Amino acid sequence: MATPLIIDTDPGVDDAFAIALAARSPEVELKGLTTVFGNVGLDLTTANALRLLAHLGRTDVPVVRGSAGTGGAADVHGEDGLGGQALTLPENPRPIAGDDTTRFFADTITPDTVVAAIGPLTNIARAIEAGVEFPRLVVMGGGLGIGNMTLRAEFNFWADAKAAQTVIRRARPIIVPLNLTQRCVADTEFLSRVDPVLSGLTGTYRAYLAGHREQNHSRQDEGILVHDAVAVAEAIVPGTLQLAVHGLDIDDEGALVEGKHQVEVAEETDWPALRSFMEQRLSG
Ligand code: BDR
Ligand code: CA
Repeated sequence: MATPLIIDTDPGVDDAFAIALAARSPEVELKGLTTVFGNVGLDLTTANALRLLAHLGRTDVPVVRGSAGTGGAADVHGEDGLGGQALTLPENPRPIAGDDTTRFFADTITPDTVVAAIGPLTNIARAIEAGVEFPRLVVMGGGLGIGNMTLRAEFNFWADAKAAQTVIRRARPIIVPLNLTQRCVADTEFLSRVDPVLSGLTGTYRAYLAGHREQNHSRQDEGILVHDAVAVAEAIVPGTLQLAVHGLDIDDEGALVEGKHQVEVAEETDWPALRSFMEQRLSG
């Protein structure tokens, strides 16, 4: 039987790849998308979630509008969150299915449900505070000794450090950090093989990364980092990523630091195999 999956998301280009991967994977049954501010503001992330589902032919999947805040990654993902291409995606005739993500989690989560959280953790923390339990929670976020917002803080944890603290202290998540996702480069060959509508969203993101590579004199292939899709792959097929238990905490700036909370951290994957898995699911 397919595993029920909910994705908490702030689309976002790599979120789009992650959602598409889940929507096209028979191992999981997508029960809903809950939206959160993050890469851009909540109105846009919610609109993007709806349009992405319409493009994927999945208007059956409910979208629940979650927590607002200040979006902070338009330089990476474009002003609309999808590389300026959001309005090229079809409109979704289905309206949002409400704005109470805590209630949605409480009503929808069963003991076998997996939740993949691939944006700031505000919705998840609110639900935890209201007593919702997450049987399996896969979180993209954090970096061990590295960051992409500050030297030590990764974007999703930095965007709501308090929420990230609640999650790591109370929910025993599986953390998929930058240390791993930064090694998972979806190169130009990959992008040329997947759904052209998805690769069509990547222009701003590729330009941003290319600028950074130039600064760092890196010769790496021009492509994108599919952070969120790496985490969702573990939600779809457990064991895709190799996990190890670490004692961790999150400081007030959103940096992952050593601490007393035992959590599983994704350390390694067979990226060529995962890349082919993604390519196969996302092509066509
Ligand atoms: C994370 O931040 C966002 O910009 C991406 O969508 C991903 O969830 C990577 O740090
Ligand atoms: Ca994201």
